[in-house]
Amino acid sequence: MKKSSGAKTKRASASRKPRAVAKQTAKPLWSGRLAEKPEAQAFAFQASIDVDKRLVFDDINGSKAHVTMLGRQGIIPKDSAGKIAKELDKLSDEIKTGKLSIDDTSSEDIHSFLEALLTERLGESGKMVHAGRSRNDQVAVDFRLYLKRVIPQLQAELATVVNVLLDTSQLHVTSIMPGYTHLQRAQPVTLGFHLAAWCAALERDHCRLSDALKRLDECPLGSGALAGSTLPLDRKAVSLALGFSRPGLNAMDSVASRDFALELSSVCAITMVHLSRFCEDIVLWASEEFKFIDLGESWSTGSSIMPQKKNPDFAELIRGKSGRTTGNLVALLTLLKGLPYAYNKDLQEDKENLFDSIDTLSNCLRMFAGMMKSAQFNLKRMKSACIGGFLEATDMAEYLVRKGLPFRAAHETAASIVRDCIKEGHKNISAVSLVELKKHSKLFEEDIYKSLTPASCVKARDLPGGCAPKEVRRQIKILRKKINSR
Ligand code: ARG
Repeated sequence: MKKSSGAKTKRASASRKPRAVAKQTAKPLWSGRLAEKPEAQAFAFQASIDVDKRLVFDDINGSKAHVTMLGRQGIIPKDSAGKIAKELDKLSDEIKTGKLSIDDTSSEDIHSFLEALLTERLGESGKMVHAGRSRNDQVAVDFRLYLKRVIPQLQAELATVVNVLLDTSQLHVTSIMPGYTHLQRAQPVTLGFHLAAWCAALERDHCRLSDALKRLDECPLGSGALAGSTLPLDRKAVSLALGFSRPGLNAMDSVASRDFALELSSVCAITMVHLSRFCEDIVLWASEEFKFIDLGESWSTGSSIMPQKKNPDFAELIRGKSGRTTGNLVALLTLLKGLPYAYNKDLQEDKENLFDSIDTLSNCLRMFAGMMKSAQFNLKRMKSACIGGFLEATDMAEYLVRKGLPFRAAHETAASIVRDCIKEGHKNISAVSLVELKKHSKLFEEDIYKSLTPASCVKARDLPGGCAPKEVRRQIKILRKKINSR
């Protein structure tokens, strides 16, 4: 996968090297029908090779499976099939070693580029490769093959992030911090619990990727332009050779549908929104106001004018980049919304923004893992932030519930005690004497004070899903098993 997310301009580096550019005829595949050569600017406008050259190895693999089947079925002579397959291997090697670079300007797309090369090098045999095939099913198979390779890579990157977070979470199952609602201190939790919450979301994203992978696992080759083929193609064999579970059920669907791309774009957008929210936490925690986290110096930046600054730029940028992936998803939905069946050239626009989403997510996952590994937590500060905001008030209400008071009445009692505390300048409820507490409710006994420390608030929430250390250890174990078992 490409590691640069400035991907709009320089993608698919497979072949940037200037050596031995393929001599292209610049004759479009459809030149038999249109006598006039396309106007240069117009040709460049409709070309997609700068984007789809990323699919070069998938296109080569698809062609090899197709041509081998053509030979086996007697649709083309076996020796021509053999020659084409061998030449495809050679092309693959030449591109990998940089001997051959993909010429952006003379071919319309990666499919035309490779077919032109085969014809140029093999003559008549080269011209046989496209029997029973259209670029419509060719691009659909390439795209799917590429995603089948890339999704497991994204999953591995995602698993790395989750493992980093779980390691940190494990270290901090007893590190007390405030949990927030409305960005107001709400109840004491632990850092381990908070980080495990992030992991639960990312683990679901991992599942979403597996789901996306399942649904794109159908081979479009043999669908032709839209209606299949009159030639005796062995679709099952091609599908099997390419590692798909089955050929697509309906040829028109196989060439026209792009919900597999939508689905992946959506997973990228969702995962990026998750990272963005975590980064927002980090940006807040890194502020002087919170001061919960200290990001490593090599994972922070300074200011060109303010000498004192240490900024959480990486977290901010990940948060910012989530906008791209949301935009890419909306662009793809909009692209598809009005398209009549089956193939339309509009579909060529499907790859660029999905590639960008994939690159963006991949980069951000790697950055997020590095940044989180570098993080130091200010545990004292986190703990002391649990004092003074009456975060134990819910625990007091639940104490009264345990003693038989209806919750609404318990809530009112606890609220009036909090109001008194504020009036009296008490920092926490424990500062109120039992005599005073009893004025609010006779149910209070000495044991109330045990329920009011941040540590006891946390420890008492030991039911499934709660923030008690023992329970969070269980959650970590489950998450770790899930993320590492796929
Ligand atoms: N470059 C095209 C795409 O990405 C390939 C398919 C072209 N098919 C066609 N009939 N013009 O969609």
